[in-house]
Amino acid sequence: MMTWETLEQVCRGCGRCALGETRTNTVFGVGPVDAEVMFIGEGPGQQEDLRGEPFVGPAGQLLDDMLSIIGLGRHNCYITNIVKCRPPGNRDPLATEQDACIPYLRWQTKLLRPKIIVCLGRIAAMRLIREDFKISREHGQWFDKGGIAFTALYHPSALLRDLTKRPDTFRDLKRLRAKVLAVAVDPSRYDIR
Ligand code: URA
Repeated sequence: MMTWETLEQVCRGCGRCALGETRTNTVFGVGPVDAEVMFIGEGPGQQEDLRGEPFVGPAGQLLDDMLSIIGLGRHNCYITNIVKCRPPGNRDPLATEQDACIPYLRWQTKLLRPKIIVCLGRIAAMRLIREDFKISREHGQWFDKGGIAFTALYHPSALLRDLTKRPDTFRDLKRLRAKVLAVAVDPSRYDIR
């Protein structure tokens, strides 16, 4: 049986694609291993590569703010990415890089058994919800896949660049809050009033 420790150790030493040659650190993921909600971004940026933690740069600051509005945060969610190593210059991860890395995410999902998966941005949504997912049309909608409720939000980096997307995201966050409360075993875990 795979354990979190083994999985993280294997991932840290990974050489399955060329991103491993340019990384400073592998960015495995953070959060309690009994989290009910899992957030999945695209791949580490510069700050994440330097620190080995997901969403710790400017986009991460915004993500923390978005989550705290609805009683979520690093203390009650698991946060990771489709690819665990930084694509040079923050380009989109190639399909071959995603293919090489996706087994780590699959194992993380098996171990965590989340009730809700939130894709951050189109790359994660296209990989995890549907290949032709349209983020501008389908953000905030819910999709059941194998008993897990999936949704996608605009990527926080997109929200930094384009303020006009923020009202939609605020509505999506309120719906996410309702969903979290509906599935929570212990709602007091989420400081939602
Ligand atoms: N953008 C992502 O998609 N993931 C991170 O971890 C940081 C920025």
